[in-house]
Amino acid sequence: MSNRISELFGIKYPVIAGGMVWCSGWRLAAAVSKAGGLGLIGAGSMHPDTLREHIVKCKEACGDLPFGVNVPLMYPEIETVMQIIADEGVKIVFTSAGSPKKWTGWLHEHGIKVAHVVSSSVFAAKCEDAGVDAVVAEGFEAGGHNGREETTTLCLIPAVRKATTLPLIAAGGIATGAAIVAVQALGAEGVQIGTRFALTQESSASEAFKKLCLNLNEGDTKLLLKKISPTRLINNALMQQIQEAEHRGASADELREIVGKGKAKLGIFEGDIEHGELEIGQVASLFKGREIETVSQVMQEIVDEYYATRNRLV
Ligand SMILES: Cc1cc2nc3c(=O)[nH]c(=O)nc-3n(C[C@H](O)[C@H](O)[C@H](O)COP(=O)(O)O)c2cc1C
Repeated sequence: MSNRISELFGIKYPVIAGGMVWCSGWRLAAAVSKAGGLGLIGAGSMHPDTLREHIVKCKEACGDLPFGVNVPLMYPEIETVMQIIADEGVKIVFTSAGSPKKWTGWLHEHGIKVAHVVSSSVFAAKCEDAGVDAVVAEGFEAGGHNGREETTTLCLIPAVRKATTLPLIAAGGIATGAAIVAVQALGAEGVQIGTRFALTQESSASEAFKKLCLNLNEGDTKLLLKKISPTRLINNALMQQIQEAEHRGASADELREIVGKGKAKLGIFEGDIEHGELEIGQVASLFKGREIETVSQVMQEIVDEYYATRNRLV
């Protein structure tokens, strides 16, 4: 599987575990890096001091193996966060939710490689202007916050491939070895997987959240909240309240009030599956009835299926 992405990050498999709020602590990041991929710590749900602790523990657990940090660029304490990342000697940062122009140069000056997440080919071209090292193109199947255009991974990857020559990582709906072969056929070189790793034993999400996600049917998640920040949500009491408000034309302010603060923590981390904001990707339903597996089991299955699929297609 060696290619520009595995070479850029010094990893065996070009498989990245996306940074995920309330899921991607040092345990998940280190487990993915130890299994031959690239683990990312998700800074989006961490206070700066907590982030520093996770980086220190991840360094201890990983030894010489690379790992990175995902930083959503709308983070309120972004200067502090970036300084911690540089001070702790992190070598890879995946930025998302903002313009890559502001931080890429600074991160490069500190010897840090930068990948940036986009949901359209227009933004992918802007990544090239900003000088990032790789681009993550994320289709609307993905868990978490999402593109307004609702472009699916199958449509997005070839469009981004046309728009830029940057090393390209596909994300959104990728959870199996066969899906990696499919996006490679479309021009991607690596993959960023969120949902499947969020549901492993090493993820810091609550057991109630993982069990619910491993029991979803097709159509049980929907992209809502386009007026504030499009988010793929699982159907529960909160999601129905949001949907009802959107149907009657609620303003952005009203939607912000309904979502409130701390609802993703309540749902994903604390396990209140009725009232919390539950973010997961469409692909969860493919794993209905599965146990909560370890990262190593998931990686092994993905790699085996990747090679089996390639052989089948020759
Ligand atoms: C629970 C959850 C939280 C997420 N949080 C973030 C985040 O903090 N920053 C980010 O860039 N992406 C976030 N994502 C997106 C993932 O990093 C990844 O790109 C996406 O999940 C890939 O699609 P998939 O879910 O179909 O695998 C999140 C995804 C999930 C499921």
